[in-house]
Amino acid sequence: MTTDSFISDYARQRTQTDSLKWDLVDQRFDGKDLLPLWVADMDFAVPAAVTEALHRRVAQGVFGYSIVPKDYVAAYQGWQERHWQTSFQEDWLRFSTGVVQSLYDLLHCFTKAGDAILIQPPVYYPFFDSIKDTKRRIIEAPLLAQGDTYQIDFDAFERKIKEESVKLFIFCSPHNPAGRVWYADEIKQLLAICQKYQVLVIADEIHGDLILPGHRFVSAVTVAASLDFEGVIVVNSPSKTFNLAGLLLSHIWLPSETLQQRYDAWAKQYKQTEVNIFGLTAAKAAYQHGDEWLEHILAVVAQNAETVAHGLRQAVPEVRTAPLEGTYLLWIDMRGLGIDNLKQLVQDEAGLAVDYGAWFSQAYAGFIRLNLATTPTIIAAALDQLIRSINTYKQQTFEEDIHDN
Ligand SMILES: Cc1ncc(COP(=O)(O)O)c(C=O)c1O
Repeated sequence: MTTDSFISDYARQRTQTDSLKWDLVDQRFDGKDLLPLWVADMDFAVPAAVTEALHRRVAQGVFGYSIVPKDYVAAYQGWQERHWQTSFQEDWLRFSTGVVQSLYDLLHCFTKAGDAILIQPPVYYPFFDSIKDTKRRIIEAPLLAQGDTYQIDFDAFERKIKEESVKLFIFCSPHNPAGRVWYADEIKQLLAICQKYQVLVIADEIHGDLILPGHRFVSAVTVAASLDFEGVIVVNSPSKTFNLAGLLLSHIWLPSETLQQRYDAWAKQYKQTEVNIFGLTAAKAAYQHGDEWLEHILAVVAQNAETVAHGLRQAVPEVRTAPLEGTYLLWIDMRGLGIDNLKQLVQDEAGLAVDYGAWFSQAYAGFIRLNLATTPTIIAAALDQLIRSINTYKQQTFEEDIHDN
């Protein structure tokens, strides 16, 4: 199957399907007929094997209390080993309904009100919310912008940990929105600092399967094992990888027995949620049969990233895109335009609904994030609308400048 035939087989119209991204966009952004490139899900149907597995489950017609399918863990372990040479053990695994829910749960379980929690902005904004809502303290060790890409300032990271007596670090790996896939060396340096100061680490690896060609994902648990560091918890989910967010299934890995016991004691008191049989049915089929589908998705994302990066470079070189190593979310630096009201340009003029940089950090108010997990046709339309609006804006400011002078 070629990328083109994949797109024609799997792309779906999503309006009037109760889609958050498509059906709530105008209300959420207070706009009209906006092209939705915001919330992180895909405009593609799941692998055919997943739809078939769900059909079989539905056809049976009984949806009583369920258990985790016998071969679920083997399918999931097989996927992790095949793709990333990551080994996890069955007794590490706990289920939840979403990664964000797990962030809240783990903060409640392992920290207390007032504790210092470190994050690396610009970063996925629910990280801020989870810390604020649970009455913990946000400590920021921002990423270092270097050219169009991002690095970790290890000295600042360590200094913040020391000065603020940080208890827990929420690590976004791969990083949303910077698009970085962290090298094993970078992860090792971070974890070694956390080990030194006994900081617990939650590694949010939800984008861990969405790795573009030329890059390699390494799980924090693999690196932690090499350091003999027991303080790492991984949260991840099949939801980003296979577009299953609506099925509410996610995973927590707790490699350490001590952490398992603490979590289980906490969960006994506060978390009696059962698993969702549709989520498990879908994820198992995806882990068993979704490899080729994911390759096609990544080819579409790479193609869309190149379209936008190349198109902007040619038409408006003062707008810069971060190299996309992982995730399907492209981080775009619009500061070169010197514009005050980014929303007016992007939304009111270009007609796009995007995530704004300020949501990820006030320091990044001049940035936007585009969701590329859609068809090349939609991406081409969005790019065209954006470039035209930028050119109109530039022409207007040019004329105003001449007039003022
Ligand atoms: C880094 C990160 N974590 C978590 C989530 C959401 O996870 P969930 O839908 O399982 O709560 C997202 C979604 O975009 C994300 O980018």
